[in-house]
Amino acid sequence: MNKTITIDGKIVPFTDGQTIMDAALGAQVYIPHLCHNPEFKPHGSCKLCVVSVNGRNMTSCTMPAAEDMVVANNTPELNDDRKVLVQMLFVEGNHICPACEASGNCQLQAAAYYLNMLSPHFTHFYPPREVDASHPDVFLDLNRCILCELCVRASREVDGKNVFGISGRGIHAHLVVNAASGRLGDTNLVVTDRAAHVCPTGAILIKRQGYRIPIGQRTFDRKKISEVQMESTEEGKPDHE
Ligand code: SF4
Ligand code: FES
Repeated sequence: MNKTITIDGKIVPFTDGQTIMDAALGAQVYIPHLCHNPEFKPHGSCKLCVVSVNGRNMTSCTMPAAEDMVVANNTPELNDDRKVLVQMLFVEGNHICPACEASGNCQLQAAAYYLNMLSPHFTHFYPPREVDASHPDVFLDLNRCILCELCVRASREVDGKNVFGISGRGIHAHLVVNAASGRLGDTNLVVTDRAAHVCPTGAILIKRQGYRIPIGQRTFDRKKISEVQMESTEEGKPDHE
């Protein structure tokens, strides 16, 4: 007999070893997420996917599903907490969406829309961070990095390289490029690498592609992030191209 959990009252089947997120995605139930991408092992950093399991909050992308779990997901309380997390990500970096090429294609921005975030609410950190335009085809702007480590995982696990890493602790944690110079142009990254396309924000951009898609026609101009991510899951595609 199939094992099941319930998410917001819906009966959702799972197989042993699947997380709550895996089961939810399989049943076309949207749980907000940024650092999770079904292509890669869970990371557990963004905390957007926190759900209430039998009354206790936990990250659904890392929590294994277990028979008869009762999961609350799409509640006003959890969505308010998620909105605060997104606001914290916005003020921690420099997310100037009106001047970002990823606007309309950005999962952070789309999650903010989904959660009805109207302002960043907190005081901006305005961190002084470098941009790295040293690579011929790929541009890196650390002001927009949310430390999801998808590029780190993609480079290591898919591309068989080790182009990106995370260094530092706490608020000083930051993305690094693994080259003696620290510059992207001195790595073996190529434009076709998965790592160059997996970034959910505008931190890693492909050069000479900017602003080709008119406003109104970008991914999240047309659909909510919940719809887009459920469609990608259904078709077995990665979250973000
Ligand atoms: S550069 Fe993009 S993919 Fe890499 S850690 Fe930052 S936000 Fe994530
Ligand atoms: S999606 Fe689970 S912590 Fe980011």
